[in-house]
Amino acid sequence: MKKEQDKMEKIISLAKRRGFVFPSSEIYGGYSAIYDYGSYGVELANNIKVAWWKATVQLREDIVGLDSAIFMHPKTWEASGHVGGFSDPLAECKNCNSRLRVDHLLEDIGVLADEKMSEEEINKLFDENKNKIKCPKCGKQEFSEAKKFNLLVKSNLGNFTSDWEKDPAYLRGETCQGIYLNYKNVVDTARVKIPFGIAQIGKAFRNEITARQFIFRTREFEQMEMQYFTHPDKEMEEYEKLRQARWQYYLDLGIKEENLKWHKHENLVFYAKEAYDIEYNYPFGFKELEGVHARGNYDLSQHAKFSGQKLEYSDTATNEKYVPHIIESSVGVGRTMLAVLTDAYTEEKLEDDDIRIVMKFPKKLAPVKVAVFPLMKNKENLVVKAKEIYNDLKQEYMCEFDDNGNVGKRYRRQDEIGTPYCITVDFDTIEKDNTVTVRDRDTMEQERVKIEELKNYLEDKLK
Ligand code: GAP
Repeated sequence: MKKEQDKMEKIISLAKRRGFVFPSSEIYGGYSAIYDYGSYGVELANNIKVAWWKATVQLREDIVGLDSAIFMHPKTWEASGHVGGFSDPLAECKNCNSRLRVDHLLEDIGVLADEKMSEEEINKLFDENKNKIKCPKCGKQEFSEAKKFNLLVKSNLGNFTSDWEKDPAYLRGETCQGIYLNYKNVVDTARVKIPFGIAQIGKAFRNEITARQFIFRTREFEQMEMQYFTHPDKEMEEYEKLRQARWQYYLDLGIKEENLKWHKHENLVFYAKEAYDIEYNYPFGFKELEGVHARGNYDLSQHAKFSGQKLEYSDTATNEKYVPHIIESSVGVGRTMLAVLTDAYTEEKLEDDDIRIVMKFPKKLAPVKVAVFPLMKNKENLVVKAKEIYNDLKQEYMCEFDDNGNVGKRYRRQDEIGTPYCITVDFDTIEKDNTVTVRDRDTMEQERVKIEELKNYLEDKLK
């Protein structure tokens, strides 16, 4: 346990030190469960989103993209069941007043529990096991009863009265509702035929009770969701295909397969046909990275009922009309980022017993692909040549120019942000053969490459 905690602390510390993730509003003492991405974090997040979009939309003839607004008609959230049922069981520690998620406390001691249980069910389990549960903050064992707490975040958008809370607009709790609301628009405009999917990336907001585990669970986060519309009889066949595609996506992303596993939901919501999560082996254990769910026709039927609109599909070939069934894949950008950071974090013992920290990101996800150094900062001809190479390469790749400190220190810094290649311009470059040293992040091996061959060399290596 100590080792895992250490790894988590090391990742959090590196993420802060090297500008991947900052706690939000730090100058005001922080803001619970909200994080900002720094200069390398935003590159990493963008690369993750590009990889997801490529696999989900660009390479698929049957899936189109969407970018729906964060705010939707408030009825959306009644129809979806979020106003009535989107809640987690909350209890307070009577000693230190920490707010705790009771299903997680029970899970931690090996008791099967989840947020879908009723207040009565969860309190029964809580009462039976209270003597085995300790407050994670103060270690005491006195708790209030569990109460279900709704996770939707309310706002006064478009409501100018003082009692707006009676009639709030909601910040979306998941992005897929925007997909359901646009199902008809997409069918009418995108020349799609069932089976087809709609994908979107966007922010979601939830009043999460506990604010632990860094960017794993935050109150503002980004989701990458894909909803696939099928004929009712084909739902499970398509579901199996989607499960395989999503597993392969993580392997193609470069995640180590031994750090992934499937988790089957035992306690399904009443409309669901089947639900699996892909779990990742985070420093705090295997936890949900992504959900892959077969949802039946619940979503479109509910929106049809609440809006009074027909949300059927007319098959022109068979003249059949039906409400499509939906299978979905849903994953957070932050959760993917934490999995990628965990997978990449490596400590290596060097010959001089020093420890090298290196982020072995898959190359396509690395925030910076190439760093260019002049061997010495005060030799103008080296600096000019290095700048020339940097200015040329940055047209193709996210590059960095660095002339601070000595080359060894620059390598260390680039290792910590996971830059696959470092190029050094030295005296041989200028005086001898127009070659530079290219150093490989993972092997630390160096080779001389002709400047005119650099682009081809990197294209090949970064493919
Ligand atoms: N539309 C289905 C849906 O939203 P979910 O299991 O609640 O299902 C899907 O969320 C994914 O969104 C999760 O697997 C996780 O990757 C991400 N996610 C959910 N809540 C999150 C939070 N509070 N912080 C970060 N990511 C979250």
